[in-house]
Parts: sequence; structure tokens; C-alpha cells
Amino acid sequence: MNPPASTRPPVTVEVHLAPDALESALSDEVRAGLTSTPRAIPPKWLYDERGSELFEEITLTPEYYPTNREAEIFETYAADIAAQSGADTMVELGSGSSRKTRLLLEAFQARGNFVRFVPFDVSEDFLRSSAETIAADFNDLEIHAVVGDFERHLGLLPKAGCRMFAFLGSTIGNLEPPARARFLAELADAMNPGDTLLLGTDLVKDVDRLEAAYNDAAGVTAQFSLNVLNVINRELDADFNLDAFTHVARWNPDEEWIEIFLRSEADQTVRVEALDLTVDFAADELLGIEVSTKFRPEKIATELGAVGLTIEQIFTDAAGDFAVTLARKA
Ligand code: AVJ
Repeated sequence: MNPPASTRPPVTVEVHLAPDALESALSDEVRAGLTSTPRAIPPKWLYDERGSELFEEITLTPEYYPTNREAEIFETYAADIAAQSGADTMVELGSGSSRKTRLLLEAFQARGNFVRFVPFDVSEDFLRSSAETIAADFNDLEIHAVVGDFERHLGLLPKAGCRMFAFLGSTIGNLEPPARARFLAELADAMNPGDTLLLGTDLVKDVDRLEAAYNDAAGVTAQFSLNVLNVINRELDADFNLDAFTHVARWNPDEEWIEIFLRSEADQTVRVEALDLTVDFAADELLGIEVSTKFRPEKIATELGAVGLTIEQIFTDAAGDFAVTLARKA
């Protein structure tokens, strides 16, 4: 006997990235980054399969507080966030079968008029599997997954419904000020009047705690940083020696960000065959791989206000370590 035809709303995956788009972006960005002064590789290349696993492991170290603090905020305030935003559609940028996604989806569903989840990510494989997991647990939810780059494809997101855009985990802190301003302007532009933004940001705090969070004693963050060299070795046929670089993470008080580098431990030459590129590193030279900006509430208000988003509420954890801001487009 056949099972009854499913009546669940559709689960679709829309792809805006050409199959070779990531590979050619990696080539362009690694070439630009290794030939610039100072040298730097954009942080998005940290997240291959192994890098994503290592990031999950970082969130389990005792020193890395942001993930737990943000989860605490959703455990406490998800219902308030759902009520205040009034959205019937949640668009999650860089997402999302994570625990915090579920807490939000459950809170919206409990209100009864929630219909659509739009997870948006660069990784098609990741999106397909998270769309399936969410579909299995949320029977009445339409799922419209979109594969794209949040620095390029925000305008292509489906426009239907009253939307809440969620950008969590303080990922926005990985963008330096010009890229962050550009991103927020494009996001605000993609929003309809009445749509809301839910933005997760780590907050400025005691330097020792900040530096410890990026220098865990078990060395997981160091492995996560070094893994970017494995990505380049594998994808671009390079010969980086991972034993000849060391993870460095330190607070920059002027920029108010944690900056992460790989330090060359000796004079050395690296060959990147796929780019026909040879790079000389001096002993102690730093290769930038990530910044993680920490925010003050005034800075959040200024940057959102500059693109026409008005803060309705800032939710924080009991310790005041992390902020989740709900803002609306007029
Ligand atoms: C990508 C923002 C969640 O900046 O804290 C963690 C990445 N890098 N440890 C952060 C990261 C090293 C992380 N986020």
C-alpha cells in the first residue's frame, strides 16, 4: 500500500552560485591576498568541512563563550523576539539547523501564523542537509533554501511575507568596517518596510577573556586557523608546511577587534602551483586570516541607523557578554 500523498508545504533549493564560482573566487582571493602587503586570506575560506567541524569544537571549549551566551539569549527571549518582530517568514543568513535556529523557529510556530523559513548559505550541500533536517521536524513549514553569497546575492532573496532577517553568531564581526557598511546597506536595501533584522554581536569586554576565547588551552582555535593552509594546499595545489606557521590571536584596542594571524616561524618559500605563484615569507611575518570585531551598543545603533534601521530592542545574556538586536526598517 502506498503512503498517503504528503501535504506538507514545499521544500525547495534555489541556487545562485555557478558550480565553479567558489573555486574561482578562492583562486582570485588567495592570489590577491598572498601578493598584497601585509598578506591576508579572507576568513570565509576557513570553513571547509574540516574547518566547520573545528569551529563546532571551538564552541565546546571552556574559553569560547559567545555561542553559549547567544543560545542563552534565545532560550530566554525567543518568544519575545517572535512576538515583537511579528514576522511570518524567517530568512537566516549563513544558516542553519543549529540549536538557535530551532529555538527561534519553535517560538515563531508557537504563535501560529508562521509559514516560511528561508535558509541562505554558500554551501549547497550544507543547505540541502539542514533543509531536510528542519523539514523533518517542522511539518507545516515551507522551506525555501537559497544558495548564494551574502556579500552579493541579498537582492535575490524571496520577497514574500513579513520577513525577519537573522544574522547570528557575530559573523558580522568578521567583516571590516568598509565591507560591513556595504553589507548592511545591501541588506537594508533588500528589506521591505516593516521587515526586521535580528543581529547577533559579541560585545567589548575584559581583554583577558577576549584573548582567551581565541587562544583556547586545548589548541582547537590554532588547528582551526592552520586548517586554512590545508584548504589552499588541497584546492590550489600549494605546499604550505603547517608546522612552520603558528596561530596568533590578539586584541587590537584601536579597532576593538580580535585579530588572528598565522606567523611564519622561519624564512620560507611557498609554491601555489594552481596560481603559478611563488611566495617568500620572512621569519615572523604575519599572514592575516580573520578579525572578530567586538561591539558597543552605541556602535550597533550608529551602524544600523546609518542604513535606515531603527533598534526596537537589544537582548543580552545575564552576564552582558553578547547582544542580539532587533531592528526594523521604517
Ligand atoms: C565566525 C564569528 C562565529 O569570530 O568568534 C571563532 C569565528 N574564529 N574562533 C568568531 C572564530 C576563531 C567566530 N564567528
